[in-house]
Amino acid sequence: MSKQRVLSGVQPTGNLHLGNYLGAIRNWVEGQSQYENFFCVVDLHAITVPHDPATLAENTYKIAALYLACGIDLKDSTIFVQSHVPAHSELTWLLNCITPLNWLEDMIQFKEKAIKQGQNVNAGLLDYPVLMAADILLYQADKVPVGEDQKQHLELTRDLVDRFNHLFGKGQKIPVLKSPNPLIRSEGARVMSLTDGTKKMSKSDPSDLSRINLLDPPDLLRNKIKRCKTDPVRGLVFDDPARPECHNLLTLYMILSGKSKEQTITECQDMGWGQFKPLLAETMIAALQPIQDKYQAVMNDRSYLESVLREGKEKASEIANQTLNQVKSAMGYSMPL
Ligand code: TYM
Repeated sequence: MSKQRVLSGVQPTGNLHLGNYLGAIRNWVEGQSQYENFFCVVDLHAITVPHDPATLAENTYKIAALYLACGIDLKDSTIFVQSHVPAHSELTWLLNCITPLNWLEDMIQFKEKAIKQGQNVNAGLLDYPVLMAADILLYQADKVPVGEDQKQHLELTRDLVDRFNHLFGKGQKIPVLKSPNPLIRSEGARVMSLTDGTKKMSKSDPSDLSRINLLDPPDLLRNKIKRCKTDPVRGLVFDDPARPECHNLLTLYMILSGKSKEQTITECQDMGWGQFKPLLAETMIAALQPIQDKYQAVMNDRSYLESVLREGKEKASEIANQTLNQVKSAMGYSMPL
């Protein structure tokens, strides 16, 4: 039996942080041998907020290098750049024309980002989830490993599949588009800010102290953990709604140390912050060091990275173009002769 297919992606906007790693990429790596995987760097999504043309291409390479550094194995997985496969833009247009406007206006991420942008909201920001749906549907993906914040976009993707198949798939033996399932882990799916345990860790937070970037050097990591927000209570616990920072930091320690919840509770329940913070910082440094070393090695071999992306583009295009043709044919387009 052929393997189920996975697709996911990250935007090349700034550095990857621990939320991107624990919410998404770590899960891609852990599950990759079970699936046939496509991981893309979603550079078309990156321009839905104001961007700097001088850094877009370099940031795209950096994210691809981080995928490899985090353990994506080309034996099981294909890495490619979204804009290298024009089918993503073309399917987006086709799907746009069956997407009700109010579905997009209801998206939480759109509302949050639109508030941040003020007057500067472009049509692409509203359309972001349709492009994301196109990414997934072109590969007929079965599973989409993401952080919790992407759940609503996955629901919209599934609604679009139903709508498309209903409108244009009648009489087809198998549905034209496949409905994907989100893969959201119970732990790490929502990593919180270091400066406010009620807010998600985010690339767009103006304070760099609010997040751990995967490429932060050890001294900076120690400093960020030393200065992160805590509370005056002694003893560390999970799941106390009055202590969101405590839950977040303990969860980070649990995941990065590879210990179980029970082991973490036994070890940390009587600790004060003065004892816990250095332990967390050193655990984090040890977990990120191999990623940082591999990243440098990949970035130093540009021709290798370029060959990975060239090959990725070929493999991705083959599948994407096939789906795009099926969609166009179902919608009644004539095919070029
Ligand atoms: P991006 O770059 O904003 O986020 C990439 C991934 O990181 C997860 N994530 C988090 N997980 C846990 N805690 C956090 N604080 C945190 N912040 C971010 C996100 O859920 C995501 O999985 N829309 C996608 C990019 C995308 C995509 C796709 C994903 C475009 N097309 C197709 C899957 C399939 C995004 O959020 O990118």
